[in-house]
Amino acid sequence: MAYSFFAFTMAVNMLDSACMATEELSIGVDMGGTSIKFAVVQGTDIVYKAEPMQTTDYPSPDCIVEEIGKRLRAIMEKYPSVKAVGMGLPGFVDHKAGIVDSLTNVPGWYDIHIRDILSDATGLPAAVDNDANCMAYAEWKLGAGRGMNDLVCLTLGTGIGSGVIAGGHFVRGHLSAAGELGQMSIDYRGRIGYYGNQGAIEDYIGHREITAEAQAAYAAAGQPKALSECGPLEIELAAKAGDPVALALWDDIGRKLATCLMNCHYILNPEAFIIGGGVAKAGDVLFGPVRRYLKAQLYPPHYAKIKILPAMFSNEAGIIGAARLALNTANNEE
Ligand code: BGC
Repeated sequence: MAYSFFAFTMAVNMLDSACMATEELSIGVDMGGTSIKFAVVQGTDIVYKAEPMQTTDYPSPDCIVEEIGKRLRAIMEKYPSVKAVGMGLPGFVDHKAGIVDSLTNVPGWYDIHIRDILSDATGLPAAVDNDANCMAYAEWKLGAGRGMNDLVCLTLGTGIGSGVIAGGHFVRGHLSAAGELGQMSIDYRGRIGYYGNQGAIEDYIGHREITAEAQAAYAAAGQPKALSECGPLEIELAAKAGDPVALALWDDIGRKLATCLMNCHYILNPEAFIIGGGVAKAGDVLFGPVRRYLKAQLYPPHYAKIKILPAMFSNEAGIIGAARLALNTANNEE
């Protein structure tokens, strides 16, 4: 009995390493408003990270894509066996056509045939998508949402983005605007957003907005602080040390996010909400209030069956997802 269990375990381990060894390499590119990151990915592993480029160092989209091409070719010299290249971008990206329609907060990116640009620059099959869709893809295929058919993944950073899987399929929508939860309104009379939309949640709990809100809250409490002392990380540490101003801030952030998740529940009714991105690194100080406010607003048997999970891949999810999407798309897999 002991021997056969040992033999079985050995066989499983050998199978695992055989799968690992045959896992193909692909390049993931993650574009943000401030930087563009590049990595060679094998399964869930980042095999190589190239120096990121600063988006704002280049005067136009043409200059940016030219530099991206150069960097991809340099990576291919180091890793000639890469099979595909995938890229995530922050805005409306038509995955099927391979075209950027427009980017949120990154000027000048309209109607850019980015998939062709990537494959012309590298000779590789390429795939492109919204950056949060890439994150969601990684979590769905390889991470916290593996095996689920209905899930919503959110990334909380400078912008708020998300990706939706419903009925076992990725939902991108008619005009590639599905799952743009950062634009979901939590106040119909609220702040005017990037697209003219009022009360978009990203205009309240984006990284910059949290920081400004924290600075105002400390000033109102008679404890003025510099902006650099008011970022999500600083208020996370303060909340963990019991600071009442910071705790109240996270309570409010959690309440706003719970409102967004509640709305989503009634549209999509996912099995899980998977939450990642820089702001979600706060962990329980964020997840605690989110769970509390969601519980208060949902039919109890529903709340009891909804999972609210931290993302598995943290800041690397976008790159891992873009790289995997490229491989799977090249193999005609969803
Ligand atoms: C954009 C989304 C993007 C998110 C995260 C938002 O401002 O509208 O498309 O996914 O930021 O980068």
